[in-house]
Amino acid sequence: MDSSANAHTEFTGEILRRIQQRNITVGVIGLGYVGLPLAVEFARKGLQVIGIDIDERKIESLRRGANYIQDVSDAHAREVVESGAFSPTADFSRCGECDVIFICVPTPFTVNKDPDISHIVDSAKEAAKFLKRGQIIILKSTTFPGTTERHVQPILEQGGMKAGSDYFLAFSPERIDPGNKTWHTGNTPIVVGGITKSCTELACEVNRIIIERVIPASSPSVAEMEKLLENIFRSVNIALVNELAQLCDRIGVNIWEVVDAAATKPFGFMPFYPGPGIGGHCILIDPYYLSWMAREHDFVTNFITLAAEVNESMPFYVRSMIVHAIAERPIALKKAKVLLLGMAFKRDVDDLRHSPALKVAELLIADGITNISYYDPYIPVTRIGDRTEYSLQEISPEVLRSHDIVVITTDHSTFDYDMITANSGVVIDTRNACRHIADRSNIVLLGDGK
Ligand SMILES: NC(=O)c1ccc[n+]([C@@H]2O[C@H](COP(=O)([O-])OP(=O)(O)OC[C@H]3O[C@@H](n4cnc5c(N)ncnc54)[C@H](O)[C@@H]3O)[C@@H](O)[C@H]2O)c1
Repeated sequence: MDSSANAHTEFTGEILRRIQQRNITVGVIGLGYVGLPLAVEFARKGLQVIGIDIDERKIESLRRGANYIQDVSDAHAREVVESGAFSPTADFSRCGECDVIFICVPTPFTVNKDPDISHIVDSAKEAAKFLKRGQIIILKSTTFPGTTERHVQPILEQGGMKAGSDYFLAFSPERIDPGNKTWHTGNTPIVVGGITKSCTELACEVNRIIIERVIPASSPSVAEMEKLLENIFRSVNIALVNELAQLCDRIGVNIWEVVDAAATKPFGFMPFYPGPGIGGHCILIDPYYLSWMAREHDFVTNFITLAAEVNESMPFYVRSMIVHAIAERPIALKKAKVLLLGMAFKRDVDDLRHSPALKVAELLIADGITNISYYDPYIPVTRIGDRTEYSLQEISPEVLRSHDIVVITTDHSTFDYDMITANSGVVIDTRNACRHIADRSNIVLLGDGK
C-alpha cells in the first residue's frame, strides 16, 4: 500500500472510530415526517443533533417544546430540545459544526408531474458552503437514479473537494411508514449506496447507531432505484386490485372476499386492497420520477403509467358511486347533503397530502354537490378547491341523520362504525371498514359486486 492509500485508510479509520464512539455531531436538513423522527432518534442515542429547516414556524415550535409530527412522541421531542441534545435552527451555517448531514427535504412534482428536485439542490448548495474535510453527506429524499451523482455531487464539489477522499457522499432512502406501530426507524432495515466503498461504509456505520440492520448497495443509483421499485411495486399492485374491484362491481363478486381468499396461499401472493385512490407524498408521486427519467432514455414505463391511470381514476369512480346513490333517493342531486368521513390519505395519520378524499370532495363540488361536510379528528381544517373547510367537531347520530349520504373515505380506527351505519341513510364504504356489520341494507361497498 502506498503512503497516500495508507493516509486515506488512517483518515477513514479515524472517522469510523469516532462514529463507533458516537463522538459525532449529526445535522438533519428538513425537519418533516422523515427528518424530525431521525433527528430525535439520534439525539435520544446521546448524540449532538442540529436540525435545520427553512420553515421558521417549525423551528419556533420545536424550540418551545411543541412537536408537530404524529410519529414522534411529544415527550421525546421536548426532552431532547430541553436537554440541549437537539438544536433546531434555520441557520445553515451550523452545517459547519456537523460531522454528518442527512438531507430530508421534499421531492414533489410539478403541475405537469415532472420531478421537482429544487429542494435537494437548494439544500446541497447550502451544505456545500460549509462542507469540511471528513464530513459525511447522506441524501434521504426519494428521487430518480442519478440524482446523488449528477445533481448533488457536482454542487458539493464546486469548492474542489472529492467524494470518497475529502468528504463522503451516499444515498440512503427512507422507509418510514407513518402510523405503523410495528415497523419503526430502529427495526426497519435500510439500504445505503455510497459514491465510493468508503462512502458506503461510513454512511452505513452512521445509520447503525439507530438502525439494527443496514444493507450496503454498490452505488447511490442502486439505492435510489430500489426505493422507487418499492413504491412502484405498491402502486402497481394497488392499481391491479382497484381495477379488479371495478370489474367485480360489474360481475357481482366481492373483491374483498376474493383478496382474502387469495391471501390464504402461503407463498407467492401478497394481499393489496382497493380504495378511493392513493395519496401521500410517496406512492402517488415517486413513480412519476422514474417515468420522467425513462423518457430521457426513450423508454416508456408502461406499468407505471397504467397503474397511475387506474389509481387516479378511483376518486372519479367513488364520485360516480355517490352520484348513483343520490339518484336512488328522492332528492335533487344539487340539494344532497354529503358527509365525508376521513380526509387524511390513509388510516390514523394526519397527512393530507394528495389525499383521494380531497379529490372526491373537489369532484362533487364541480358537479354542483356543494353541500359537503367532513369529519376527521386528525385534520381540523383544509382547503377544498377555493373553499376553506373545517372538520365537524364530532359525529353524533343527529349529525349522521342530517346528511343524505355518508362516505367512508378514510377508515380511521377511532370511528365507531356501528354507530355510523346504524344512524346513516346510506353509507358508501370505500375501505371495507364496515366489514363486521351484519345489517348491510344501507351499506354500499366499493368492489362489493352489488
Ligand atoms: N413522509 C413519508 O412517509 C416518507 C417516507 C419515505 C420517504 N419520504 C421522502 O422523504 C422526503 C421528505 O419527505 P417528508 O414527508 O419528510 O416531507 P415534509 O414536507 O414533511 O418535510 C420536509 C421538510 O423540509 C423542509 N425544507 C424544504 N426545503 C428545504 C430546504 N431547502 N432546506 C431546509 N429545509 C427545507 C420543509 O420546510 C419541511 O419541513 C421526500 O423525498 C419523501 O418522498 C417520505
